[in-house]
Amino acid sequence: MNITVIGTLNKDLILPFNNTPIESYGGIFYDIAILSYLLGEGDRVIPVSYLGTDVAPQVQAILKKMPNVLSDGLKLLDQKNHKVILEYKSPSERHEKALFNFPPLTWDEIQPFAESDFFIVNMITGWDITLEAFQRLGAKHRERLYFDVHFLVMGIDELGRRFPKRPKNIQEWLEVPRFVQLNRREFQIIDDQVRSPVEFHKKYLSPDQILLITREAEGATVVYQSHGKITSREIPGYRVKRLVDPTGCGDAFGAGFVVHFARTGDLLAAVDFANLVGAANATIRGTTQVNMLTEKMEEIKQANRR
Ligand SMILES: Nc1ncnc2c1ncn2[C@@H]1O[C@H](COP(=O)(O)OP(=O)(O)OP(=O)(O)O)[C@@H](O)[C@H]1O
Ligand SMILES: [Mg+2]
Repeated sequence: MNITVIGTLNKDLILPFNNTPIESYGGIFYDIAILSYLLGEGDRVIPVSYLGTDVAPQVQAILKKMPNVLSDGLKLLDQKNHKVILEYKSPSERHEKALFNFPPLTWDEIQPFAESDFFIVNMITGWDITLEAFQRLGAKHRERLYFDVHFLVMGIDELGRRFPKRPKNIQEWLEVPRFVQLNRREFQIIDDQVRSPVEFHKKYLSPDQILLITREAEGATVVYQSHGKITSREIPGYRVKRLVDPTGCGDAFGAGFVVHFARTGDLLAAVDFANLVGAANATIRGTTQVNMLTEKMEEIKQANRR
């Protein structure tokens, strides 16, 4: 199985709540590393992102250690890599500041990698990909296109600080993919009037689309059409002994969902698996210990026997 991941590979500085700082690669690096561990040797993870010259040798050296990752879609740009400072104000609430922005990816960068079993478009910066390129990808592969809205609903000020901002053309983005992932905050930024996930689905999506709303430790809500009716199901999260760093849990959730759904086609089981991968990610620091992911997943599964 081949999974293409489109977005931005970050250099992260994480300032956790009550813990020591973490420097690690982030953004779609979460997807890449997690997919690499979840998939087999015969599978392929194909990231498409710009890469700054300051980090390129190190990133390439790390990716060489992941034999199922094909790094041809990482395009070198003669500038510093996109950097994000994530400062936690509480165990889960954080402020982000972005430096050294990249331009959006266009169809030229994506087209060479536009044949795959699944596509994840992850809006790490919010301007990772042009709407036109996204629409072209959707026209070919809507059925297998997974979209994490993430920072599409955030603006940026002159100091690089990120703040909530609903794009006027949000509807044009939401209608493209089959799968749409939002966290609770993003859901509210898009619409603080709708009363329920089902109402949101009816207002913004068409019946063939699947909406996934992540709810931190509580798990996720999935909204989809069943027997001709838009239905929502809450899939409970997994308890973790100690929350270490929740950064990238959304990315871990998306990666887990796509792997399980692409393998089985079982929607509810894929959300449950996604919750498990998300929970395991909450127990590791940045992406520096992804090699412990499957071990952590097993531990959490044992402790949460259902
Ligand atoms: N503290 C936690 N305990 C257990 N599971 C968690 C926890 N935090 C997150 N998760 C899992 O990860 C999923 C995604 O988390 P969350 O809702 O925080 O996404 P997010 O805000 O998009 O994260 P990020 O933007 O940092 O990647 C949740 O649906 C849940 O399955
Ligand atoms: Mg997110």
